[in-house]
Amino acid sequence: MTSQKGAKIQPVRGTQDILPDKTPSFRHIENKALEIAERYGFQEISTPLIEFTEVFTRTLGDTSDIVTKEMYTFNDLSGETITLRPEGTAGVARAFLSNGLAQNLPLKVFYSGPMFRYERPQKGRRRQFKQVGIELIGIEGSQADIEVISLGNHFLRELGLEDSFTIELNSLGDPDSRSDYKKALLEYLSAHKKNLSPNSIKRLEKNPLRILDSKDKEDQKITADAPLISNSLNDKSKKFFEEIRNGLEKLNISYVINERLVRGLDYYNHTAFEFVSQSLGAQGALLAGGRYDGLIKQMGGPDTPGIGWAAGIERLEMLLEDFPKKRRPISIIPGDSSLNEKASIISNDLRQLGYTIDFAYSGNMKKRLKNSNKVNACACIILDKEAVKDGNCIVRDMDRGEQILIDSNNLSYHLKKYK
Ligand code: HAM
Repeated sequence: MTSQKGAKIQPVRGTQDILPDKTPSFRHIENKALEIAERYGFQEISTPLIEFTEVFTRTLGDTSDIVTKEMYTFNDLSGETITLRPEGTAGVARAFLSNGLAQNLPLKVFYSGPMFRYERPQKGRRRQFKQVGIELIGIEGSQADIEVISLGNHFLRELGLEDSFTIELNSLGDPDSRSDYKKALLEYLSAHKKNLSPNSIKRLEKNPLRILDSKDKEDQKITADAPLISNSLNDKSKKFFEEIRNGLEKLNISYVINERLVRGLDYYNHTAFEFVSQSLGAQGALLAGGRYDGLIKQMGGPDTPGIGWAAGIERLEMLLEDFPKKRRPISIIPGDSSLNEKASIISNDLRQLGYTIDFAYSGNMKKRLKNSNKVNACACIILDKEAVKDGNCIVRDMDRGEQILIDSNNLSYHLKKYK
């Protein structure tokens, strides 16, 4: 326990509170992602935050960072081994199997929500973070890859980020090509073993591909001359990759080929992609994904192809300049507490009609007017005792500073311009 008695209680390292000044932009990103996904025929799915640990260990790869050191795993009170989801794809694949969805392909789903990874926190990297993501399950052909990448591109453009990212694309080939490449790479890296970083030496036998995206400078010098995956792709894989590239070009979606893009999760084959920003430092991947044709079979299901991506909401939020402003409220100010009831009834009526009403709960008139400024009200309804006696109230336009006396019965008509 790090929190001591009397010490200020802090959030858990790598987690954060999203306060009301930021929640509108988080919500905007989620809404935009869902809206665009729906335009491509995707529907929302929501899977649990916890899964049996096996869901992840069987799919993400024994040597992946997530499985080896980043999972929040615990035994629950009945002794089951449970993990807080580190990502969304494995849970969606599990849901696909548990709900017998194989009869109704393709499955096209969108999800959003928190994920958990025990990583070293830094800018753009948290232990609890939010993702939006999509999965398209059941389509073998390259049109699925083209649509999925196009949807990611469309989503980021709609957020106004069209100048903030580059699409990096690679093909990891089919299992045959990949295993040929693994052999060629292993042979090359083994010859340089003594100069590799300790981390890469550990990966050498089990997953040499991951050494290609090592951040270690010495490793990078070695991998600069490593064999290229494109040379190991068989004809089928080459053709598949070409179809995708042509498809993207026809849609005017620009990309660069990055032969080092291998992705951190083991379930990928063929297409791998990352939408990368240059302005976020080391954690520049905004949206990332790829094809995972073997994943569902590996989970014990039928051989079913899949492709998808996920985007980190915190990272997108850091780049958003132009998120929609909150609707400005109308504030209602009872002249004193004897007018609270009246103010409450008026507020209720106006809210039913769709107005946003902020109630000035306490303080003298000066303080309550100050509150109207604080909440950025566009107008104020002031229930002045004298005015109320005659069935009126005062409406003050906060931008113009003008106020007029209005018959309370005509209030909603008069306020129309503020809706
Ligand atoms: P991923 O590359 O691990 O892929 O994560 C996708 C995105 O989530 C990253 O590009 C980044 O924006 C965000 N992200 C990841 N880790 C963190 C973190 N610690 N803090 C903040 N943001 C983070 C997946 O999760 C795959 N499930 C994507 C996928 C879907 N592949 C196929 N379908």
